[in-house]
Amino acid sequence: MESALAGKNIVLGVTGSIACYKALDLASKLMQAGANVETILSYGATQFVSPLAFRSLTHRSVVTDTFDPNSEQSVEHVALARWADIVVIAPATVHCIARLAGGLADDPLTTTVIATEAPLLVAPAMDANMYDHPATQENIARLRARDVTFAGPAPGRLASGLMGMGRLVEPIDLLGHIAAALGKHGDLAGRKVIVSAGGTQEAIDPVRVITNHSSGRMGYAVAEAARDRGAEVVLVTAPTALPDPPLVRVESVKSAQDMCDAVLYETSNADALIMAAAVADYRPAVAAEQKIKKTAADEMSIDLEKTTDILATAVGDFIRVGFSAESENLEANAADKVRRKSLDLIVANDITEEGSGFGVDTNRVVLIDREMQVERLPLLTKYEVGHRILDRVATLLGGRAVAG
Ligand code: CTP
Repeated sequence: MESALAGKNIVLGVTGSIACYKALDLASKLMQAGANVETILSYGATQFVSPLAFRSLTHRSVVTDTFDPNSEQSVEHVALARWADIVVIAPATVHCIARLAGGLADDPLTTTVIATEAPLLVAPAMDANMYDHPATQENIARLRARDVTFAGPAPGRLASGLMGMGRLVEPIDLLGHIAAALGKHGDLAGRKVIVSAGGTQEAIDPVRVITNHSSGRMGYAVAEAARDRGAEVVLVTAPTALPDPPLVRVESVKSAQDMCDAVLYETSNADALIMAAAVADYRPAVAAEQKIKKTAADEMSIDLEKTTDILATAVGDFIRVGFSAESENLEANAADKVRRKSLDLIVANDITEEGSGFGVDTNRVVLIDREMQVERLPLLTKYEVGHRILDRVATLLGGRAVAG
C-alpha cells in the first residue's frame, strides 16, 4: 500500500468559491496518491475553474450542473453514488452546506450525496462572518449529527481581506483528512495509541545538543497509519523537519526526559505505546547554563550520564512496541531487547541496509514478538510498515474491551 488513498474511488464535489483553484491541486494530489477521482462541479464552481482543467487532471469526464440533453447525467448521480468509497466536497460554500443540511437534491452533487452510502467529508470555505452565522453553525451541527465529517475551515487571511475562520484546509492536509474519514470505523476505533518519533536532543549548553540522525519519518508514518484505522493518536515527537500530520495530536519535546514525562502522562489511559523515537541513551551530566567558551586546551570532554529508559519505565495495561536499530546481529540483539524490556513486539531494522533506516521513505524490518516468533517483512514504505505493526497491535488488543 503506497498510501491510504491508493485505489480508492473518490467523488470530488467542488462548489463556487474563490478557493476552487485549490480543488485542482487536491485533484492532482489525489491522483498522485493513486486514487480514482470523479469530479462534480456546481454551476458556481464552473465560474471559477473550468471542467476541462479537472478532466485533464483526473483523466475522467467531469459532471457539471449544466444540463445537457445528450448526456446520461440523469442517472449519473446514482452510478457515482454507488461507485464512491467517499464523497469529498472541497470547497463547500455556505450555500452548499445549507442545501446538504436541508437534504435538497436539486443538482448532480446534492443528488449524489443523497443517493450514496459512502462517507461524506465536507471542507468549508467562506468568509468568517458567514461561517460564524447561527444558520451556518446550525447546519453544520445537523450534518455532524448525521455522521458527516468536517475538515476545517482553517483560520487565517480570507479572500475578503478579513482574518478569521473560513480558509479551505490546504490540499496536502485534506489528504490526511480523507484517509482518516475512510478509516474512521477501522479496527483501532475507540483506541488511544501513543507513538514517539524523532531523535531526542540533549543539551550541552544553551547552543549545543547531542542528537542523532533520526528523521522521525517512521514514527510519523505509524501515527498516520493508526489514525487511518480509527485510533485517537498522540505523537510525542522530538524536533523533526516534518509537518504535523492532520488529526493527530502532536506533543513536541526535546530531551529524553521531556519525552519520558510526556509518554508516562499519555500512557495513563492508552491502549498501545509504539516507541519509534531514537532516544539518547546518555546525556551530558550537567548542561552548562552559559555557552561554553573555547579555551587554550586542545581537548575537552563532557561527562555523560544515562537517561531513563522510557520503554522500560512505561509499563501498564497497554501494548508496548519497541524499535531496534542495529548494524550487526540484528535478530539476536532485537530478541534480547524483547526479553529485557518485556515487550509485546519489537521492530528491528538493519541501518546499514540500502533503503532502510534513517531519512528514507522505505524500511525493511523484522518483527519479533513475546513468543520469539520472527516475521521478516520485505522492503516496504514506512506507512505500510506502520500498518503491519498495527495489524499485530490490533490482534493483541482484539480481546480487550474498548474503553467507554
Ligand atoms: N528507548 C527508550 N528509552 C531510552 C532509550 C531507548 O524508550 N532511553 C527505546 C527506543 O525508543 C526503542 C528501544 O528503546 O524503541 C531501543 O532500545 P535500546 O535498548 O535503547 O536500543 P538502542 O539504544 O537502539 O541499542 P543498543 O542496545 O545498541 O543501545
